Amino acid sequence: MKRKKTSLTRLNWLVDIVLLFAITPLYFISETGRNPHQILGVVFGIGILYHIALHWRWVVAITKRLFKRQPRQTRINYAVNWLMLLSLTGSIATGLPIATWFVDKGDPSFRGAVQRAYYDMLGLHSTFSYVFLGLVCIHLWLHRKWIIKTSQRYLPSLNLDFAKNFTK
Ligand code: HEM
Repeated sequence: MKRKKTSLTRLNWLVDIVLLFAITPLYFISETGRNPHQILGVVFGIGILYHIALHWRWVVAITKRLFKRQPRQTRINYAVNWLMLLSLTGSIATGLPIATWFVDKGDPSFRGAVQRAYYDMLGLHSTFSYVFLGLVCIHLWLHRKWIIKTSQRYLPSLNLDFAKNFTK
């Protein structure tokens, strides 16, 4: 049983590291180019679904106890997680209609109302994406103890002494 829990923790940690590395280039579209950005965006969305599946028991347990007494920290985590899911869904839902797969900005028909709709959608996409980024920072901060403890466990050669100040 303990062994099963350890391997699940390791899997959670590995998935989180991959997601953390994947999120960064999403905000550097001029460096990555639009097509890799789009592909990464979709893959990232699938990765997040996997991350949620790994924490599904927590989600179900907290949802069932939503109207009962619970620690404030748990309620904050729960709310932040929902806001993250909503903003990421918004980001992907507004990213898809402006994707190069569906819109050719060089096409003569790309003007007037079509062009305005495109830039309105881009504005929404950008807003959702930056709200999501802000929430990711809050999420990381709220889980900093687990992140530092688990990283130290699986990467013992990594010196994380400086980070211990953030866990007090
Ligand atoms: C998964 C989360 C995603 C994040 C965090 C994200 C983030 C961003 C950011 C920060 C920009 C720059 C916005 C600006 O210049 O104002 C951008 C642009 C763009 N995104 Fe995303 N994006 C995501 C997913 C997607 C997806 C799934 C697609 C499409 C399949 C997509 C398509 C685009 C396109 C086409 C642009 C450039 C539009 C242009 O320059 O005309 N994004 N995205």
